[in-house]
Order: sequence, then C-alpha cells, then structure tokens
Amino acid sequence: MGDLPVPRPFLKWAGGKTQLADALLERKPVCFNAYHEPFVGSGAIFFRLYRDGQVRRAILSDINAELIDTYLAIRDHVAEVIRILSEFPHSKEFYYEIRSKDPWELSLPERAARMIYLNKTGYNGLYRVNQRGQFNVPFGRYKSPKYLDRENLLAVSQALQNVEMFCASFDTVVERAEAGDWVYFDPPYVPLSQTASFTSYHANGFGLQDQQRLRDVCITLSQNNVYITVSNSDTAIVRSLYNSPYFSIDEVLANRAINCNGAKRGKITELVITNYPVNRAIQLQLLEQKAPYLVFQQRRSTRASA
Ligand SMILES: C[S@@+](CC[C@H](N)C(=O)[O-])C[C@H]1O[C@@H](n2cnc3c(N)ncnc32)[C@H](O)[C@@H]1O
Repeated sequence: MGDLPVPRPFLKWAGGKTQLADALLERKPVCFNAYHEPFVGSGAIFFRLYRDGQVRRAILSDINAELIDTYLAIRDHVAEVIRILSEFPHSKEFYYEIRSKDPWELSLPERAARMIYLNKTGYNGLYRVNQRGQFNVPFGRYKSPKYLDRENLLAVSQALQNVEMFCASFDTVVERAEAGDWVYFDPPYVPLSQTASFTSYHANGFGLQDQQRLRDVCITLSQNNVYITVSNSDTAIVRSLYNSPYFSIDEVLANRAINCNGAKRGKITELVITNYPVNRAIQLQLLEQKAPYLVFQQRRSTRASA
C-alpha cells in the first residue's frame, strides 16, 4: 500500500476549523486523557491532533447522522467507499440522480460515497436539507473536483481505527467524559449581527437556549474536572454567557468572511473559552506544584488563602 499521507478533513464543512487550528492548539491543555469533539463536522482539529501524535483515545460525535455514517463507513469499509466513488462520473445529470436517492435506502458505504460526492461536487460544499430532510444543494460549477482522493481516504481510515463515533447531541458528552479528559466544543456560532430570529427561534438550528445549554454543560464538566475549550464568535451574548468564575476568555484573530455574501474577507476576533489557564508555562507550573488546575479551583484557593 506504500506510505500514506497525513490525513486531512475529507469534507468541506461550514465553520471548518483549519484556519483557527494553530491558535486553538496553542491553547490546549498540556496533558489530557481522552479527546472528545461533540460538534465534529469535518474534524479539522481532530486530524491536527492526530498528526501531532496527541490522540490517545478519541470520541467524536455530531448530530448529523449522515456525517457520522460517512466517518463510520470510511473507518470500517474504506475499500468499498473508494470502489463506489471510482464508479461515479462527474456530470450534472448524475449529480441530480444521486441527490434524488434516499440515503437511508442505501448501504452504509453507498451512503458515504453519496455524501462525499455531493459535498465535493455540489455548490460551495454546502450541506443543506429541506424540511423533509432531503439534500437540496444545486450542482456546483467545478471543472474537475477531486471527489475521489484515494490516498487521503485510506489515511483517514487508518486514523479512525480506534476512534469511537456517535450520532448524538452535544450534551450527551457529560455521560462519557471523565476527569482529566479534554472536550473541544465548536458549536454553530452566535451570529455577529443578532436578529430577532436568533434570540427567539433557532437560527442555524442552534438558538440562544442551545448556547445556554452548552454553557451549562461546560459548568458541569468543570465540576467533574474535565478540561473544556469552546470556540465562538466575539459577541456580547457569548461574552456574557461565559462571564463566570468557571471560565477564562481569550481573543484570537481569525480570517473570516465578514459580511453575509462572503465577498469581503478580513481579520476578525473570535473567542476561545477555557476552564484552565491557556498559557503553557503556567499550566506546567501548576501541574508541577500539583496546584488546583481549573480556573474556578484556582479562584477558590486564592480566596481561601487571602
Ligand atoms: C461549526 S460546525 C463544526 C465545525 C468543525 N469544527 C470543523 O472543523 O468542521 C458545527 C457542527 O455542529 C453540529 N451540530 C449542530 N447542532 C448540534 C447539536 N445539538 N449537537 C451536536 N452537534 C450539533 C452540526 O452538524 C455541525 O457539524
């Protein structure tokens, strides 16, 4: 089979973290047991950690069932996924034919091949379904999209061999994460310009109540001595949600589309919230001294000794 390349995300995914990966990884806990990623999407951070040899045990999940099935198929049936993809032609007719198929009537490898094909050949790599759950993204205008990246799929399959994967809502991570584990949450972001629909309904299917539920999950995990990191937009809502003795908030620069049609790009700040100090030297010092490590424990101990 020869040497495989370093595995990379095999899907384009809205909010993909490739851009923010360096800033996030500079702020990770220096040591941790299992790694959990409950909004895994295309898994940019997981693949970086894997590349850096930082994954001992990983548990990845997302609420998108087709996405998780695609990971499972690549993990367990990669040869079959590759074979099916290699038989798919690149044409508008075939795109609409495969798009019209009900993914739940296909086998697991067929479902995965369909997902990868639609993602790589559809408009802008969007994942969008209508109210009946049917994928409705139009054909994209790519000349020769690389929907079959055989080497990368083989490398991804190898990286996933010991990884546990679930289709689940993020809050179920509380049942799995143990003291000393690290959970990275990358939820759908609070919109930069809040509309009434965000605060009262569910914009992106993830509204204010979900953001509050996520913050509460982070408090429970902190109380269970689990390290947490959350990325989100630099907005008043996020700052006020995490304005708590459990967390510290750090600003990082990100390259992002800053208006709604994506035409204007620039650097904006995003927030990285942690329940441990992000500075590596401070982390090492605390660990060496066996001092309280999580932010709220440090605050408690400085108050007690004052
Ligand atoms: C911002 S994206 C994550 C991007 C990812 N970090 C990457 O690099 O591609 C958010 C993800 O959250 C998932 N999601 C939305 N609501 C969820 C929920 N309640 N529980 C778990 N996952 C959810 C979406 O399916 C999507 O994949």
